[in-house]
Amino acid sequence: MIASTSRQRFAAVLFHAGRRKQLQNDHRRYLRVLGIETSCDDTAMAIIDDRRILAHVRRTKLDVTNRVGGVSPYVAAEHHRESIDGVLEECVSRANVRLADLDGIAVTRGPGTVICLKVGMDKALALCQTYRQRLLPVDHMRSHALTVRFTDASVQYPFLCFLMSGGHCLLTLVKGPEDFLLLGQSVNATSPGEAADKVARHLRLASIPELASTCGGRSIEILAASAPPGGHLKYPMPRGIALQRNCDFDFGQLKSRYLTYLNVHGPVSESALPSFCASYQHSSFKHMATRLQRCIEILDDKRMVPDDRRTLVLSGGVASNSFIRKGLAFVAAKYGYRLVCPPPSLCTDNGVMTAWMGLELLEAKSPTIIERENVPDSLYVFDRVPIGEDISEQFAELRWKVKTKIDLDDIDAFMLPADLPQIRNKANL
Ligand code: KG4
Ligand code: ZN
Repeated sequence: MIASTSRQRFAAVLFHAGRRKQLQNDHRRYLRVLGIETSCDDTAMAIIDDRRILAHVRRTKLDVTNRVGGVSPYVAAEHHRESIDGVLEECVSRANVRLADLDGIAVTRGPGTVICLKVGMDKALALCQTYRQRLLPVDHMRSHALTVRFTDASVQYPFLCFLMSGGHCLLTLVKGPEDFLLLGQSVNATSPGEAADKVARHLRLASIPELASTCGGRSIEILAASAPPGGHLKYPMPRGIALQRNCDFDFGQLKSRYLTYLNVHGPVSESALPSFCASYQHSSFKHMATRLQRCIEILDDKRMVPDDRRTLVLSGGVASNSFIRKGLAFVAAKYGYRLVCPPPSLCTDNGVMTAWMGLELLEAKSPTIIERENVPDSLYVFDRVPIGEDISEQFAELRWKVKTKIDLDDIDAFMLPADLPQIRNKANL
């Protein structure tokens, strides 16, 4: 008995010595980070341990957002202030860890709504000071881009990343956690998410009971799924949108053409609603697809992506749209690119993406890390931050004519009718 206990003790000593050594050699495996994300209207936190989620909590007020007709910065900031302590408490108790045992606290510093970001930043600073933690300031768009490396360890740098959210539309080449090349962007500050939210509001989709707490883009996706065959071509993409031969996006024009149609022709009837939504969604997809095609062809021409790195990553809230995912996967495959996306729940804003980017910063020994003894009482947050070096103008100057012809209207090539749940009760329209 005694012999067996001492053998066990000896084995345990060996095990811990081995684990310590492994920790020294492969510290990423055991890095544990809390992520705090408050850039828009979701209060989100997560604790991760390398690629394991120990806890993931998100509070959203989409029913309020829908009711007041969009995100109000003041309402959103108030929501963050009300929720943040509860979210933290739930996150820590679910993860069952002590904040003092973390390797760092990551927090979104921008881009986003300043008064919302401030709530997360102040909380992070206070926690770092109380629990003697490093502060890992995180860029929101970069963290959307890197999330995929949390969910899929096979994604290596560099990779092509298409970020589509409620605030941005960016085509980027990601060469490292803090090394991004910007290839294309929204020209008039209208993002695909914001455009979809506005169209959904004009269609009064939030008055459908099942969609009252659903964001605009997702509501359009759900209704579009019940469009009849060919419904996506009934209200086609207006002519003359984004004719310039660049990789930039003009969702402002796309949105205003559809809104003008609604203003001129009046409300869409209940029976025509699915086709209208399918057409709008398809037009957004087509706009993205043609810019993506040009971008890939230019990257190929300039040999900027190694053959073994032909990976396209989609992320940001709009990337949770299954029609857009499947359509862009189809386009990417024509060029020999594989498409990889985080799961929909990690495409929309969340704390895991923030925590993971913090972990990558630790791993890269980034100079942006603020060590325990240097954590200040307050830190600026930013509404706008460039994602990296902007070479979109150089891409535009090429006036590249897309060479590969792809029939983007034939959606049966990439969509199955049963791809989405159909909406049942359309009362209250
Ligand atoms: O990335 P995100 O959660 O927040 C920002 O950083 O902006 O993106 C939110 C946007 C909203 O505009 C929402 O309508 C859109 O993502 N979105 C979708 C879908 N789910 C969310 N758009 C289209 N289809 C979806 N399934
Ligand atoms: Zn976002």
